[in-house]
Amino acid sequence: MSENHDYHNQGGLIAFIGSMVFVFCFFFYIVFINKGVTLDENVSDPAPAGAVKFDLASVKEPWLENPEVALAGQKIYKQNCALCHGGNGDLVGGLPNARNLVEGAWKSGGGLINHYKVLQNGMPGTQMASFKQTLQPHERWAVLNYIETITNNKSKDTPEDVAAFAATAD
Ligand code: HEC
Repeated sequence: MSENHDYHNQGGLIAFIGSMVFVFCFFFYIVFINKGVTLDENVSDPAPAGAVKFDLASVKEPWLENPEVALAGQKIYKQNCALCHGGNGDLVGGLPNARNLVEGAWKSGGGLINHYKVLQNGMPGTQMASFKQTLQPHERWAVLNYIETITNNKSKDTPEDVAAFAATAD
């Protein structure tokens, strides 16, 4: 019986080694090769190499016409305002009783300064809430910068008046 002393269940051993190799390869694949699932929503293209990332917070006068500020404002708009005012400010996909920002039939005077006050205080008694806690001042100016690009009833405030107001507004 000594010839059976080193008897191994060779089939079981091969299956065991095979499964370990499989587990290792699978681990290696998941960790190093598989890129994961890409959900194409809300994923912005990586900035081209060498491109300087736009820093909204560093813009001194974000109420002045500026395509980069307006683009940043559009992103903020989509996240915070589109739900009620519609994806493009025209109430399409929004609330029928919100303001159509493209038409711009303003009730609070209109213009950048009055719009900023609306974002500070909201419009009491309506669904238009204050964004003071949600958005930084430069983010609120960027949204208004974007709205200026889509509205037919544009601001008549002079850059000097807006600058003077912005210096005191929180
Ligand atoms: C929960 C819904 C809702 C959200 C979110 C919302 N609004 Fe409004 N907004 C309203 C409604 C409703 C009115 C109209 C209030 C009224 O006069 O009855 C309004 C009015 C306005 C007006 C018109 C002010 C005027 O003088 O007539 C502006 C400008 C405005 N919103 C900008 C914004 C911006 C910018 C955002 C995002 C930062 C935003 N709103 C987010 C519901 C909303």
